[in-house]
Amino acid sequence: MNNLKNSEKKMDDIVRFSKEAGFVYQSSEIYGGLAGVYDFGPVGVELLKNIKDFWWRETVKKKKNYYGLDSGMFKHPKVWDSSGHTSGFSDPMAECKNCNTRIRVDKELEKIGISADEKMSEEEINILFDENKDKIKCSKCGGSDFTKAKAFNLLVKSNLGDFTSKESTPVYLPGEACQGIYLNFKNVVDSIHPKIPFGLAQINKAFRNEISPRNFLFRTREFEQADTQFFVKPNENKDAYEKIKKERWQWYLDLGISEENLKWSQHENLVFYASDAWDIEYNFPTFGYDEIEGVHDRTDYDLSQHTKFSGVDLSYNDNGEKFIPWILETSMGLGRVFLAVLSEAYDKEILEDGSERTVLRFNSEIAPVKIAILPLMKKDGLAEKADEVFNLVAGDYNSIYDDTGKIGKRYRRQDEIGTPFCVTVDYDTLEDNTVTVRERDSMKQERIKIEDLKKYFEEKN
Ligand code: GAP
Repeated sequence: MNNLKNSEKKMDDIVRFSKEAGFVYQSSEIYGGLAGVYDFGPVGVELLKNIKDFWWRETVKKKKNYYGLDSGMFKHPKVWDSSGHTSGFSDPMAECKNCNTRIRVDKELEKIGISADEKMSEEEINILFDENKDKIKCSKCGGSDFTKAKAFNLLVKSNLGDFTSKESTPVYLPGEACQGIYLNFKNVVDSIHPKIPFGLAQINKAFRNEISPRNFLFRTREFEQADTQFFVKPNENKDAYEKIKKERWQWYLDLGISEENLKWSQHENLVFYASDAWDIEYNFPTFGYDEIEGVHDRTDYDLSQHTKFSGVDLSYNDNGEKFIPWILETSMGLGRVFLAVLSEAYDKEILEDGSERTVLRFNSEIAPVKIAILPLMKKDGLAEKADEVFNLVAGDYNSIYDDTGKIGKRYRRQDEIGTPFCVTVDYDTLEDNTVTVRERDSMKQERIKIEDLKKYFEEKN
């Protein structure tokens, strides 16, 4: 149970802490940084991997009718014409006439309580923008004199292949991960013959030229998406959609997110092909509720478009009955979920001696490090004994070996990265082959025989 509620936590503290504790660093920091791109440090990469593994296990491994894949990031340029990204994947952008700072107009309107979104036309957005311009201030110079809002395409162009030729078509980095699944639909059907309804899942990178990346990992220019696309018969979408929504909600609770920090939000303006769309939102410290995952009922749009643009028939043959399957999509942003998990776990506690400890209360399955092995001293054979203990558990649990500083400080370091168990090797260990196991949340300590350690952790994990 946390001491701090999310309303009492500050995102700035979490950003600072993430760097100090080895979770997340700004990309290219020694060159002044690159906006909207982050790197995961040694502790962060373990947490990220554990979240992915947890998702994969629950979403693919535990389900009879879900299959995984991993598509290449570069795709044929026509893919992005077919998906509508080259023509319509844009955000409304305006520029401050005084200092040239670019703003995302729909987000600025939202900040002053006016509902606007990416599906509105340029004209509709500009009417709202004109009416409210004096209430919107440039974040750099404070002015309110802006250019008109213009659609700004978010696809990131690359120059793969013959980029010297004038005729060459640009290749794009993926704007969303799901296209790789649609492109392989026929390959999967022809090779492993899944019976409809079935799902395909993948974790892949996406790149968006966000006008104003903001809120740390929340809005970045490079991020990962964990997607499932569930293929159903036409018009057999409703029950499956409700079931998927329930499963996705439960997944977050199992991950360790408390229900009081989650909510559903239904899209008000649906894209023309969608039949329904809901977002799961998390209550982030400082900036509040915002989307971490979209659950979309997309009808037959995606496979119909790829059939039209590629000329290859992507219909499914169900015992002689041919149709283009409808798709139910779940798309989770891993950076956002990472930030939600970190925000949820971040806690502070005043101890009996009046000092304060920072502790990350991850559930033990996703904790970056499971066990820390701490020899009380480096000398007198304690280091060798601690090595023995490390080798005993490290193959089964991600473990860390730390022999620097006072033992109290070492416990604090492990609390800060959310390590559920510390194992201390001391002089008694040399006498009776027992170690002290300290539990992160209660800080309770007990003596356990080394030979019983594996069983102990099996029961606890
Ligand atoms: N294929 C559907 C799709 O891409 P989306 O709502 O644009 O839908 C899905 O993205 C998820 O990807 C979002 O719920 C969010 O978690 C994540 N996401 C989108 N844009 C992002 C960004 N700029 N930075 C980090 N995560 C992002």
